[in-house]
Amino acid sequence: MKKPIAFLLAVLMIISLLIAPTVSGAETILYGDADGDGEVTILDATCIQRHLVSVADALIQEENIKAATVSGEDELSITDATLIQRFLAGLIDHFPAEKTVTPTEPKRDTLVVVFSRTGNTKPLAQAAATYLDADLFEIEAAVPYTDADIAYYTNCRADREQRDPTARPAIANEVTDMARYDTVVIAYPIWHGQAPKIIYTFLESYDLSGKTIIQFCTSASSPLGTSASNLHALSPDSTWKDGKRFAAGTSPAAMEAWLREMGY
Ligand SMILES: Cc1cc2nc3c(=O)[nH]c(=O)nc-3n(C[C@H](O)[C@H](O)[C@H](O)COP(=O)(O)O)c2cc1C
Repeated sequence: MKKPIAFLLAVLMIISLLIAPTVSGAETILYGDADGDGEVTILDATCIQRHLVSVADALIQEENIKAATVSGEDELSITDATLIQRFLAGLIDHFPAEKTVTPTEPKRDTLVVVFSRTGNTKPLAQAAATYLDADLFEIEAAVPYTDADIAYYTNCRADREQRDPTARPAIANEVTDMARYDTVVIAYPIWHGQAPKIIYTFLESYDLSGKTIIQFCTSASSPLGTSASNLHALSPDSTWKDGKRFAAGTSPAAMEAWLREMGY
């Protein structure tokens, strides 16, 4: 006997919940929905324009006027049609339209920096930049390295620079707006077991503190070795990721795989 009563009560509760909004007169306004079809589309903007020039079959119903007046003003105007168009273009994020969203240039937040004298490191840097959707900056020596300058073990310029702890070869170009990047990839060849001194010049030329730095190198056979820690010392307040050595001719896919492994 109790069961049918409980069932009846449950049905009554469901019915009362369903009709509650009507009974209480609660009203949800879909701002922008000038034609009252339940969605905001370009037709609503058109509808307002036609209403304002009094096209008979396009007059907005009295009950939809409030929804059409998206500017928050008392009266419907051409501004409302424009605001709906701006809303649909993503320039405004809600109605009434006090707040406008300023469109911004998509900015890349990763920079790949490369020094590559004989062209082995550069394609890998390009692969990294493509994969990371990063900007690419190639360090150009103010005094370019000739073939004689890099004829190693001949006491050439590169040999002398690598031996000299104070050597800081000048760089001809510069990064515009380093501040905008939060991640910097540094790519270089191994010269006598270390990064070329021009990489030292680069690291000392910018404030990279707080940024994440990923380093990689190419070499004939040497590992990344102490080239890594010696660079860390030049920007101790950066977050240095574990670097890697690649052989010349490594595929872009291998570079991507490494970056993916690191969570990029
Ligand atoms: C001055 C100089 C020193 C080098 N020293 C080493 C070395 O110590 N170990 C090594 O494996 N390769 C060494 N190499 C070879 C380069 O690391 C290798 O060819 C690298 O891929 C070159 O990169 P790049 O073409 O981007 O300049 C040296 C090359 C030069 C020019």
